[in-house]
Amino acid sequence: MKEQITVWDYSELILKALGKGILLNTNADKFNSMVIGWGHLGILWGKPTFHVYVRQGRYTKPQLDKAGEFTLSVPLGGIDPKIIRVCGSESGYNIDKVAKAGLELEPPRTLSTPGIRQYPLTLECKVLYAQDQELGKIPEDILRRMYPQHIPGTDPMSNKDFHTMYVGEIVDAYIIK
Ligand SMILES: Cc1cc2nc3c(=O)[nH]c(=O)nc-3n(C[C@H](O)[C@H](O)[C@H](O)COP(=O)(O)O)c2cc1C
Repeated sequence: MKEQITVWDYSELILKALGKGILLNTNADKFNSMVIGWGHLGILWGKPTFHVYVRQGRYTKPQLDKAGEFTLSVPLGGIDPKIIRVCGSESGYNIDKVAKAGLELEPPRTLSTPGIRQYPLTLECKVLYAQDQELGKIPEDILRRMYPQHIPGTDPMSNKDFHTMYVGEIVDAYIIK
């Protein structure tokens, strides 16, 4: 069962959870989930939106480009260390995260990307816009810290790959019961 929510009633909860890591799920070649810690909840072009930032080397990147949609899964009862470890440091190129992290998938309601029962607050998002970062426009100190050019893109944390920003229109929001 899904309980409909108004996303603005949960903005503080969502943004506090984002600081510790929420899940960005995609479903193109297969279902995959990655941890994100960066993003924005807001309004663009009069629509409720969530902006996410995905590095070039992530398995999630081509999945997002193919599917044109994603779901965000936010925990309500604290983070699950196994989910954070598997989805935040291993790549969908190498493993099946559903099996390895024990993700319990919940069928979507409006789009085609499932949610995750362990992280029940779910936002279904349709990609409206995508834009690559231009490294030349990023302040020098941030560039050195976040985009060290000697670290290969396979490293799960800071590495040489820039991010692509995806703007997702929030088309449905609910809590999985
Ligand atoms: C707390 C935390 C926050 C993260 N935030 C982001 C993020 O906002 N964008 C990103 O590209 N990677 C982020 N990562 C790294 C990815 O989750 C990680 O590289 C993951 O293994 C990528 O999975 P994939 O290759 O299956 O897409 C974060 C990792 C952690 C642990």
